[in-house]
Amino acid sequence: MPKVEAVHVLFVCLGNICRSPTAEGVFRHLCEGEGEGIGSSVTVDSAGTAAYHIGKPPDERAQAAALQRGIDLSGQSARRVVAQDFDRFDYILAMDEENLQNLRNICPPQRMSRVSLFLDFAPGQVIREVPDPYYGGEEGFEMVLDLAEAASRGLIDEVRRRSVSR
Ligand code: 4NP
Repeated sequence: MPKVEAVHVLFVCLGNICRSPTAEGVFRHLCEGEGEGIGSSVTVDSAGTAAYHIGKPPDERAQAAALQRGIDLSGQSARRVVAQDFDRFDYILAMDEENLQNLRNICPPQRMSRVSLFLDFAPGQVIREVPDPYYGGEEGFEMVLDLAEAASRGLIDEVRRRSVSR
């Protein structure tokens, strides 16, 4: 397996306590499972476009659902997207159209190609947005995990392709 060059991925939702921390945890977990080829080359973070929950750990329901799948989110802490993120991260992946638009509104024009929807990387997935689980039940958090797994696998394929084509 060829060595993958360093790649930096930022997941973005509204509050940075449900969807993007879950995406961060799932993607990191899957990369680590891929071993040397990718696990040591990828850095992962998440952020919110809103400031409501800065400094808080992920929502307890998100943590519990992830832990059922062997993924520990407890070390994460919510932060807001900052201008430097557009320079630091190669992929800046929004959970839904609203957050994609929020990102585009503050992204420098020369960095715009770095910003897209996370589910653009989920092959064959008809759902384009990760639904916000905050005001719903536990099934919403399972859905976030399922979608994050599918899109993370597609993103890992993309990262591999990117490093082979360079
Ligand atoms: P997230 O979910 O964007 O996936 O972290 C939300 C968290 C908090 C709120 C909305 C969505 N809120 O309104 O406080």
